[in-house]
Amino acid sequence: EKKITVPDLRGRKVSQGGDAIAMVTAYDYTMARLVDDAGVDAILVGDSLGMVVQGLSNTIPVTLEEIAYHGRAVQRAGVRAHVVGDLPFMSYQVSVAQAVESSGRLMKEGLFESVKLEGGLEFAEHVYRLVRSGIPVMGHIGLLPQTVHALGGFKVQGRGDEAEQKLIADARAIEQAGAYAIVLEAIPPDVAARVTAEVGIPTIGIGAGAACDGQVLVCTDLLGLTSGKAPKFAKRFTNLGEQAVRAVAEYVAEVREGTFPSAQHSYKPNRAAGERSVI
Ligand code: KIV
Ligand code: NA
Repeated sequence: EKKITVPDLRGRKVSQGGDAIAMVTAYDYTMARLVDDAGVDAILVGDSLGMVVQGLSNTIPVTLEEIAYHGRAVQRAGVRAHVVGDLPFMSYQVSVAQAVESSGRLMKEGLFESVKLEGGLEFAEHVYRLVRSGIPVMGHIGLLPQTVHALGGFKVQGRGDEAEQKLIADARAIEQAGAYAIVLEAIPPDVAARVTAEVGIPTIGIGAGAACDGQVLVCTDLLGLTSGKAPKFAKRFTNLGEQAVRAVAEYVAEVREGTFPSAQHSYKPNRAAGERSVI
């Protein structure tokens, strides 16, 4: 099947007849294969891997090397979906040059077809320079997990007139800088609808209602693999976590009972039962 490209995704504005974009995170080969077989349009190697894979309480410690490591595993799956690499905390905030160097390092290794960075107006110059360097950029506004300490927690953003106006200004600035799509995270659905109407590039929501031009979810949330308290928007489409615990518990029981492995999961014996060695 034909690879999904940046121009394909940029054209997916629902108001202009485009099909909504379905994006999901993946951090390894196996998950990338599964979500690609399911027909997702885009795979994000998100810095959420810090929480999902590494067990951290936020995404701040994640490094560019770790994004590259997981990117390599995903890249080997040879997916049809577009693959986006997340720029982690302090891999682009320092300067426009740092953003280009970090992104260039990922792109040059052939891991990703675009990068994503958190930030609005304040990062429009970074986006501009990246795009002019040949690196497609997906923006990300609203709740920015890399700023969790400044925010005082993971909270809904864009409440109130001023915050709503700022979000619209952020989205416009990122679009004007040349981004091909923007993630809207944790904002009221009517605000997301307004932002979506104000820009010509697709918006991809997570906790931002159904009026966006697409949606993104963390793969382990979607599959019901994440334990503990999940955000309101993290719909579990199945409960693989419970199924996994049940399966492993069965394995444990069969090992203790000696019913696993049976003949079916063992190699053919050297001698048939009752046959004795001549020596
Ligand atoms: O890292 C991530 O998974 C993300 C998505 C939630 C958009 O940035
Ligand atoms: Na992220």
